[in-house]
Amino acid sequence: MKVFIRSWGCQMNVLDSQVLEGAFAAAGYSMAEREDDADVIVFNTCSVRAHAENKVFSHIGAVKAIKERRPEVTLVVAGCMAQRLGESLRRRYPQVDVVIGTRRIGDFVGIVEEARLKGPGVHVEDAYESYPRRDISRRTGKSQAFVSVMRGCDNYCAYCIVPYVRGAQVSRPAGEIVDEVTALTADGVKEVTLLGQNVTSYGHDRGEQGALARLLGKLQPIDGLEWIKFVTSHPRDTGRDIFETMRDLPKVCRYLHLPAQSGSDAVLGAMKRGYTRAEYLDKVHMLREITGGVSLASDFIVGFPGETEGDFEDTVSIVREVGYKNSFIFKYSPRPGTAAAKLTDDVPIVEKKRRNNALLAVQEEISIAHNRAMIGRRVRVLVDGPSKKDSNRLAGRTEGEEIVVFDGPAKLAGEFVAAEITGASALTLFGRLADEAKRA
Ligand code: 5AD
Ligand code: SF4
Repeated sequence: MKVFIRSWGCQMNVLDSQVLEGAFAAAGYSMAEREDDADVIVFNTCSVRAHAENKVFSHIGAVKAIKERRPEVTLVVAGCMAQRLGESLRRRYPQVDVVIGTRRIGDFVGIVEEARLKGPGVHVEDAYESYPRRDISRRTGKSQAFVSVMRGCDNYCAYCIVPYVRGAQVSRPAGEIVDEVTALTADGVKEVTLLGQNVTSYGHDRGEQGALARLLGKLQPIDGLEWIKFVTSHPRDTGRDIFETMRDLPKVCRYLHLPAQSGSDAVLGAMKRGYTRAEYLDKVHMLREITGGVSLASDFIVGFPGETEGDFEDTVSIVREVGYKNSFIFKYSPRPGTAAAKLTDDVPIVEKKRRNNALLAVQEEISIAHNRAMIGRRVRVLVDGPSKKDSNRLAGRTEGEEIVVFDGPAKLAGEFVAAEITGASALTLFGRLADEAKRA
């Protein structure tokens, strides 16, 4: 039996797909490279914007032709969109056999096997007891792994579907996380990225404060581990204790993804973000004071209901004021069932596009300046493998998540190297191996 798994959306979904790969392999399945070769097709979907869902709909549409040729193929739609749409997915697309929600990762393969014997079904109820055991060999790279530290989210930002599709926040016990990271590093992992929809509120669901900083302290001594990153941080829950770990614990990377979403107090209030522009800027100031500076990234939504030109200008100015290394910019997309979906989506699409492009242009200018300032410097790079754009070259990342492209032998994949930066674009640094790395 062969299974094909395709994933959309965030890193949490990527990790869930890796966990599923391991579970299918343990049940005797092999991995198919393409939908056409598979007996079971799994789409692990995202609901964050309508655009993310539309991409999946077109893939579901394409499976119809495969099932006409091979009716025995089982199409499974999983993840956030499956959780959101449930039964209605099967009504709209009869080629969908099984719908499996976000909280059935632990018994996923059993559900699929049962459906193959007994027929279609929808499984979106919460059956999680703990995070499913994983096969640690299924991971992002030889030296890189994602580790889930919590699931769900209790924030209910007005625009966001996540609490509805991933449920309430549940933190994973620290001991379990330490054990998983220990096993990963024993198997050669050098960098772990701790994942949570709201990672800086780790422990809050158990009434614990400061639990993420303590967890970082427990991970610091693990042998073989070199870099620890964590995403995504909510500005309200991110503070001094976390910044101090970046200063004091050498393995905690100087990288922070701290989405502001908007620079306007009116919009931040309507989004129910729980902080003002000034409070956000105070945090950034404290971060820089304590650490001396880290690589800072953000997310922004443009065209939220009621966003005026003045509000948008406030977003442009916060991007300039903070000087992010990088920002992800999104056009507001109403998500059914969220608080914002009740508001009139009153910024016309052409205006959303204009604001999106204008903000992108500002961020690009800043990113280029940030990256050009790195020219001539020597940086430590964890090599991911061949560059996507030019497979003759290598690509890797710095502790600040800057991408570095350079010439070097393929055997360096998974290794740390020293690179001298020789050139820069908005999204990429170009460099050459420092001499001692070449000899290594
Ligand atoms: N519309 C547009 N962007 C959204 N995001 C989350 N929900 C929406 C939405 N309804 C963005 C936020 C978040 C990122 C993952 O996606 O910026 O940080
Ligand atoms: Fe998409 Fe959010 Fe689900 Fe991740 S948690 S897959 S971003 S909807």
